[in-house]
Amino acid sequence: MSNLPKKLPEIKILDEKEKKLKEKSKEVTFPLSKEDKKNIKDMMDYLEMSQIEETREKYNLRAGWGLSYIQIGVPKRIFVMVHEYEEGKFKRYVIINPKIKSVSEEMVYIAEGEGCLSVNRPVEGIVPRHARMTLEYFDEQGNKQEIRVREELAVGFQHELDHLDGILFTDRIDKKNPFKDQNKYRSI
Ligand code: CO
Repeated sequence: MSNLPKKLPEIKILDEKEKKLKEKSKEVTFPLSKEDKKNIKDMMDYLEMSQIEETREKYNLRAGWGLSYIQIGVPKRIFVMVHEYEEGKFKRYVIINPKIKSVSEEMVYIAEGEGCLSVNRPVEGIVPRHARMTLEYFDEQGNKQEIRVREELAVGFQHELDHLDGILFTDRIDKKNPFKDQNKYRSI
């Protein structure tokens, strides 16, 4: 908590009504600009502050743990995640130009439904996601990396990957039958 800024970073998150969110983001070239580095840090600080009760209430935030660059209006293939892996302990991920290497056949869904900082209304329904996946990506320094994620982290990564292609989780919910095929997948 000590490394967090004193004030909430000033980032403007686009709402689902904005057409920009439907844009397909473009590959990033290195080195990153100072502005990109600042935006990336601001997004992660914002997410961490949204998950800490004290700052969430102070700034009247909704808790979120992932953000894609397009959500702040910039169509670059970058997303960040801040994952509370243990009470009060957060791990940060900066994922640039990701490529899916492999996915599990097993599919899961988040029982209480997915959420998104760009979707400011309750949405019912299930979003099938791969239970595990392996990604290749570049870090902020431009080094190629590989990561394997599973369960809720894998769901979060797939949610953010979708943003890079202009897809919202609401697009993946069957409009007529939001709980369609529910028993085909494992709930987490
Ligand atoms: Co989202």
